[in-house]
Amino acid sequence: MKNRNDNRYMTDQQIRQQIVQNRIETKLLVLEPVGYPVESNFIESPQIEVSNKELFEIYAKEQWNGYRVHKNQYIFDQKLMPDFAFQVAEARPDNSYITNNTSILVIAPESNVNLLKTQRDICFDDVIGQEKAKSKTKIITKYLEEPEKFNGWAPKNILFYGMPGTGKTMLAQALANELNVNIQMIKATSLIGNHVGDGSSQIHELYAQARLKKPTVIFIDEIDAIALERKYQSLRGDVTEIVNALLTEMDGMDDNDSVITICATNNPSLLDYAIRSRFEEEIEFTLPDEEDRLKILEKNMKTLPLECMFNLNDCVEKTKGFSGRDIKQKVLKTALHKAISESKEVITDEDIDYAISESHKEFVKSDAMFS
Ligand SMILES: Nc1ncnc2c1ncn2[C@@H]1O[C@H](COP(=O)(O)OP(=O)(O)OP(=O)(O)O)[C@@H](O)[C@H]1O
Ligand SMILES: [Mg+2]
Repeated sequence: MKNRNDNRYMTDQQIRQQIVQNRIETKLLVLEPVGYPVESNFIESPQIEVSNKELFEIYAKEQWNGYRVHKNQYIFDQKLMPDFAFQVAEARPDNSYITNNTSILVIAPESNVNLLKTQRDICFDDVIGQEKAKSKTKIITKYLEEPEKFNGWAPKNILFYGMPGTGKTMLAQALANELNVNIQMIKATSLIGNHVGDGSSQIHELYAQARLKKPTVIFIDEIDAIALERKYQSLRGDVTEIVNALLTEMDGMDDNDSVITICATNNPSLLDYAIRSRFEEEIEFTLPDEEDRLKILEKNMKTLPLECMFNLNDCVEKTKGFSGRDIKQKVLKTALHKAISESKEVITDEDIDYAISESHKEFVKSDAMFS
């Protein structure tokens, strides 16, 4: 019988694997490409970009399986580009061992994650109403300015929910502009990739980037597209992995402080319960009341290219139940286009009434579709 300690017939990798047994396994390893330790004429400094994450993982594990890794350590590629260095941006847990189950990510200084563009000109004052949401975002601002004041009681995961067009994305944009910190905005649908695992590795990449540049706010828009209640998940293809990745990240580890997640949805009741329970606060965005509708109208009228001669109070009255987006897109824009198409110089009650009746027709149509 073969002696258990007899390593003669084992490959290097098997030996390492044996060592790894009973040790703490690296769950996630995030690497940053650094370069070669020496310069010479025949080595050009390559720009590393991983095009196939799955293949890279196989390749990386083959040579580093069994390695012990900790933050900031360098590890070298010995195969394709001998001595090319990667620095460990994050090993989770720190001081653990790479195994076949380790997720390995290479991140470029600029993330590959499909981030939403922030609209630079929006500020808090542009968001009308939604006082509860605004005061929560102010708490986030305070925390990011003076984290020590919160002594471990930091805001972490927050849900914005409510009717479409009520200012959820807008407030996140304003937060991004007003805060002097990094904010990563992403649309959940962009996480659904072609391959199983694409989305979950994008989630890990998103948070790994966030931790590198912390303090960071992560805003995931339209979260219901992925974090659906379990019974709906199969409808969207395999999003279970994405949900699990998100759960891990939202729970966070100690080093996740100063990373705040805000998610937005129209319909919180569709959300996976495990995800939903991670939110410390759910903030509702409501339809604008009379005063808010007046402010939204006044603000948007300033940028209209035609003079407004309609009765503002009537318009406020008639737009009850409209969201900020409806007021802008369905009422003012349609009225403007009608006036322009009729070669008029001013927007009158007639144009506004036309726009409102057209949008009522649309509401009826969409109600019929969902009933
Ligand atoms: N509270 C508000 N104050 C001012 N403008 C608003 C407000 N809500 C909506 N708007 C207008 O409507 C547009 C769309 O709003 P936004 O994209 O923030 O809605 P949302 O709540 O994210 O909607 P959805 O749930 O469909 O994503 C804004 O760009 C703005 O012009
Ligand atoms: Mg939105």
